This record gives sequence, C-alpha cells and structure tokens, in this order.
Amino acid sequence: MKNKIKKIIVRVIKYFGYKLVPISSASSNFKKLDSTALNENFDNICHNYENLFGEKYGKIPKNEKRIGILKDLLGTPPSEAYFIINSIAKTEMIDGDVCEFGVAQGITSQLIANEILNNELKKLHLFDSFEGLPKPTTNDTLKDDIFNLGSIEAYAGKMSLPIELVLNRLDNIEFPKNRYVIHKGFIEELIIAKRQFPKYVSFAYVDFDFYEPIKIILEYLNNVTKKGAVIMVDDYDFFSTGVKIAVDEFILENKSKYELFIPKKTFGCFAILTKLED
Ligand SMILES: C[S@@+](CC[C@H](N)C(=O)[O-])C[C@H]1O[C@@H](n2cnc3c(N)ncnc32)[C@H](O)[C@@H]1O
Repeated sequence: MKNKIKKIIVRVIKYFGYKLVPISSASSNFKKLDSTALNENFDNICHNYENLFGEKYGKIPKNEKRIGILKDLLGTPPSEAYFIINSIAKTEMIDGDVCEFGVAQGITSQLIANEILNNELKKLHLFDSFEGLPKPTTNDTLKDDIFNLGSIEAYAGKMSLPIELVLNRLDNIEFPKNRYVIHKGFIEELIIAKRQFPKYVSFAYVDFDFYEPIKIILEYLNNVTKKGAVIMVDDYDFFSTGVKIAVDEFILENKSKYELFIPKKTFGCFAILTKLED
C-alpha cells in the first residue's frame, strides 16, 4: 500500500516537472516518511492538482470521498482519473446514463459511481464478461507486454475477476442498488439482444483492451449519444494495437461528428471523443 501511494506521488510530482529523491540520512535530519505523512502529502497534491486542472480543462467539483478512491486505483493513473471526473462533470446535464465497458475488479467503477452518487438522474451500467479478455483478432498485436506473457494470444482469458469485487466496491460507497445494472457476458453476445442497455448514454468509459469489442461498442455509442456526450477510450496506443486501430477507424468514418482529444502520454494513454451533434 505504502509503495503504491509512493508510486502515485512520484508520478504526479513528475507531471509538475519535479523528481522525488531519497533523503540521505547523512545530510538531513528529516525522519523517514511514514504512511500518515505520505497520505497527507497525497491529499495536498490532489487538492492542488484539482485547482490546476480546473484552470486548464474545466472545474473539478469538490468531493470528499474522491481522494480515498484515487489512492486505490490500479492501472488508471490519477492524471487520467481527473479526465474521467471532469468528463462526468461536463456531461452531467446531457441526456443519458453513465457506462463503463470493461470493469475488471471495479476500481474505476467505484470512482465513476462516486462522481454520480448525488445525481439521481444518472444510472450506472457496468459491462464485463467476468471471464477476462476474449481472443485477440489480427488487429491486436502486442505493443506493451504488461503481464510479461510473451504474446497477445496468451492474454485471452486474463483479467477474469469475480463480480463480487465490483458489488463490494459499490456497497462501500453506498451506491443505491436500484441505480446500477451489471451486464455480465461478452459484449459480442450481449449486443445482439441489448437487454437493459441504456436508451441514451451521456458518458462512457471504454476499457475493453482489444479491437473487436471496442469497435462494436463505439458503433453502439454512436447511436445512443447526444451532442456534448463524452466517450473515453482507455489504452489508446498502449498494450494492444487494436485499441488505436478501432478508435482511428471510427473517427475516420464519423469525422464531422466528434472532436478527438489525445492528451500527452504523461497523463496516461487514452482518447476522449466528444459528440458534436445529436
Ligand atoms: C483492463 S480491464 C478493465 C479495467 C477497469 N476498467 C479498471 O479501470 O479497473 C478489461 C476488462 O474488460 C473485460 N472485457 C474485455 N473484452 C470483453 C468483451 N468482449 N466482453 C466483455 N468484457 C470484456 C475483461 O473481462 C476485463 O475485465
């Protein structure tokens, strides 16, 4: 836990152009940082970051539970999480529900749920096979071997986690049971019946990792989003080449309908698509 917080702080500090260096015992009277100090530092950094982010990209609403959730994130850096938070705030008045496609253990789901907790107009739809990744297609080649498995094919079935982890995280923040739907199954199959799928979507976080499911879901979202809706696709140009191919193809086919924003990689690897028309 201590190491994880340390890593997050190092990353955030790096974004501001600084480097964390160990305090040499010979040259300093400082005591070793303990976890309380690390936690307090992280809180301070987040508060300052929220102000800076707000000036550049739009206000980040205050939220008491947020920082505790940020400390828990896996795979999603806080710099990316703030784009999720900002996109949810920006789309709060847009018609539609909020979705996450690819939830794994539900850590980002908890962050998203917490941001919409007080907006009773929004339901949360969480989609996952809970059987891990499907087989990759020929558009998926291994770009970053995140688990050191040696080939993209070896990733089929990986990231399979029990649904209970997600339910517990939603319970932890007292997210009402009647405000979320968990869609269990491979999206390639679920999309045929679209059972309980939202009629409109105002914000979607797409984190399926591979080409085929992302292509399918972008096509669906194109039909259920209104002007101002935001689609965030994680792992753009990271891990599998399929993510970037799916997004680039979609943008090429729908050029005039979306504004595409790709942040600098220091923020994380993701793409933000904002709908420009109904
Ligand atoms: C990278 S993880 C998601 C991480 C999560 N968004 C987070 O931030 O913690 C990818 C997830 O997508 C799910 N997944 C991938 N392809 C899928 C598909 N075709 N249908 C349903 N779920 C899929 C996997 O089971 C896995 O849990």
